[in-house]
Amino acid sequence: MLFSPIKIGSTMIKNRVVVTAHLTNFGKQPENIINDKYISYLERRAKGGVGLIITEVTGVHPSTHPLSGNTFVRDEKCIPGYEKLARSLHKYDCKGVVQLWHGGRQTHSGFNRMHVISPSAIPCPLNRQVPKEMETEDIREMIDAYVKSAINVQKAGMDGVEVHGAHGYLICQFLSEFSNKRKDEYGGDLDNRMRFAREIIEGIRAECGKDFIVGFRISADEFVEGGINLDEAKEIVKKIEGAGNVDYISVSAGNYATTPIIVGNASYPIGWLVPYSSAIKSVTDLPVIAVQRINDPQFAEKVLAEGHADLVGICRGNIADPDFVNKAREGREDEIRKCMGCLQGCTSRIFQQFEMSCVQNPVVGFEQELDEISQAKKKKTIIVVGGGPAGMEFARVANLRGHQVKLYEKESHLGGQINLITNVKSREEFGEVKRYREVMLKKQGIVITLGKEIDETFVLAENPDAVVIATGSRPRTQSFEGANRKNVIDCMDVLKNSKSVGKRVVIVGEDTFRKATDVAEYLSSNGAEYVEIFTQYPFVGMEIDFINLTDVYQKLYAAGVKFTPNTIMTAYDGKNVTVKNAYSGLESTIQDIDTVIIASWNEANSELYTALKGKVKELYRLGDCLAPRTAMDAIYDAYKLAREV
Ligand SMILES: Cc1cc2nc3c(=O)[nH]c(=O)nc-3n(C[C@H](O)[C@H](O)[C@H](O)COP(=O)(O)OP(=O)(O)OC[C@H]3O[C@@H](n4cnc5c(N)ncnc54)[C@H](O)[C@@H]3O)c2cc1C
Ligand SMILES: Cc1cc2nc3c(=O)[nH]c(=O)nc-3n(C[C@H](O)[C@H](O)[C@H](O)COP(=O)(O)O)c2cc1C
Repeated sequence: MLFSPIKIGSTMIKNRVVVTAHLTNFGKQPENIINDKYISYLERRAKGGVGLIITEVTGVHPSTHPLSGNTFVRDEKCIPGYEKLARSLHKYDCKGVVQLWHGGRQTHSGFNRMHVISPSAIPCPLNRQVPKEMETEDIREMIDAYVKSAINVQKAGMDGVEVHGAHGYLICQFLSEFSNKRKDEYGGDLDNRMRFAREIIEGIRAECGKDFIVGFRISADEFVEGGINLDEAKEIVKKIEGAGNVDYISVSAGNYATTPIIVGNASYPIGWLVPYSSAIKSVTDLPVIAVQRINDPQFAEKVLAEGHADLVGICRGNIADPDFVNKAREGREDEIRKCMGCLQGCTSRIFQQFEMSCVQNPVVGFEQELDEISQAKKKKTIIVVGGGPAGMEFARVANLRGHQVKLYEKESHLGGQINLITNVKSREEFGEVKRYREVMLKKQGIVITLGKEIDETFVLAENPDAVVIATGSRPRTQSFEGANRKNVIDCMDVLKNSKSVGKRVVIVGEDTFRKATDVAEYLSSNGAEYVEIFTQYPFVGMEIDFINLTDVYQKLYAAGVKFTPNTIMTAYDGKNVTVKNAYSGLESTIQDIDTVIIASWNEANSELYTALKGKVKELYRLGDCLAPRTAMDAIYDAYKLAREV
């Protein structure tokens, strides 16, 4: 069914796969007009075979501005960009719909120095600014803005618009009693709360005619006290269908009080929201789009075959692999580079105001510059030392360019530190970094030698054209009093299961990303009785994005893990740990600690690189061996280097 066409309104969509809306931050201030970077990004997904693409949240009025780089369609100067986008998508028989959006209170005045607006003067649970309660003339102005934006979209030759009624944004704020406490005709009973949405939709249909797609995205449940629940969402959909102006329903969930639900991370099971699309589908004849963690074609097929939805939204799946659809169609499912629900490159980066990226796919945002992998002018023999994410990705891409690559790994398996991460229950899916690359290396016939530690003599004897050192990193030496005791162990050794750990542990959380919390989860699910993480920073996990952090905190608090911020390690006498407050310097003791676990930053395994410098024709290093960072950086380094060698 996945590859069968379906009609939305009067428009035929060639298959059932939809790239649902996702903010990329590729737009540039102050104009925030759709640009070539964004067009190339979406065009690549069209080329990869999807039937329908919904653009990111697209501002209809200057009073909304979620993040620095989203795009607007509010005035006519936006039209040429969308004309170009329409041509780029239609070239591949992919249809394109623009998501019309106003954030209401779920934005921040910091972006544009304008106060935020909402149906009622209640602050956004996340951005926390008190909005101006919209006056009737504001409401009229916003309805006009949606309609004018839709007209611009139509003039540009795009196929339609999606009215964003989900995720707690302005329209959802009106729909929901959680945010709408108005006493006028736009508040109160459901019909009144729907009035704003209804007038927008009616206005668009009246101006744009019946052949223009008008979709509606709804949160089937906001998962908040007093908010929209599934029963009410069904009522809303019935009324929307009854009014006869909408062509499809896209079923999502959540608002900014429940942001982790909007884009579920790896802790959410695959397809966890499908029962909600199924429930919505049971009350409407309109085509229904299901989303959330549908990251594999067989599951997508099942969703359709069992009648839970008419189309499947595969958003992150197509970020991670733009060829998702074509690979699925060609039966190359094992070659799909799956989304792991890690959020590290996508939502985490956009909430930091960076451009969107993806751990799995280093090309995201660089489709114009990096997508094509061309044959190397001179085919070389290349030795790659280290089979972690950096070495594997380099070998994969360099081989595609025609180089003769030999990959050496000292352990009996590939994957490097990925094998430590996946020992943590909630992080198993991160192993997709390794699985995908292992499959490709084997399929491409790359010579891999496991269990061989490479040294200078070996490399010089082989005399290759180029040497790539991807030997990763190791724990750095600690200097506090007692740091060299045998019961002071690095988290990497704990996760390798190579050293025994006592029942009462403290974790020195110098690393503010995943190490301290990963090892805490690992220990508390493997028999530890007392686990305390302390860090010199204001909170544990400072570099973890707030969506993942919510999940991490839920798990660790539930497991009884103690968090102690603003605290520095001073000494360990084998029994008691002495710490001091980072600001007052006041010392205190944590008693009866069997093991101290270090979760710190690493140092590069750069000795082989240094030893070979000046002795081989071409020498490179990458990933943690260049500077210990993340797998996302390692893969990006590797991909870029492999295109250049
Ligand atoms: C607990 C934990 C959680 C993490 N969480 C994340 C996360 O959520 N997101 C993220 O992006 N990153 C995360 N990281 C960091 C990430 O795993 C590393 O940055 C990444 O693995 C670095 O890749 P690499 O290939 O450069 O090095 P490594 O993964 O260290 O691989 C190097 C490989 O080289 C091999 N090797 C070394 N010397 C030789 C030699 N002489 N001969 C042959 N082989 C050799 C090693 O055995 C190893 O397999 C985490 C790390 C840890 C420890
Ligand atoms: C980086 C990112 C940005 C998103 N931005 C939007 C958006 O602009 N509008 C919207 O309706 N949904 C947005 N979403 C939600 C997605 O459309 C989709 O519902 C969600 O990612 C779950 O589907 P998936 O598991 O296939 O990724 C965003 C998701 C991601 C990952």
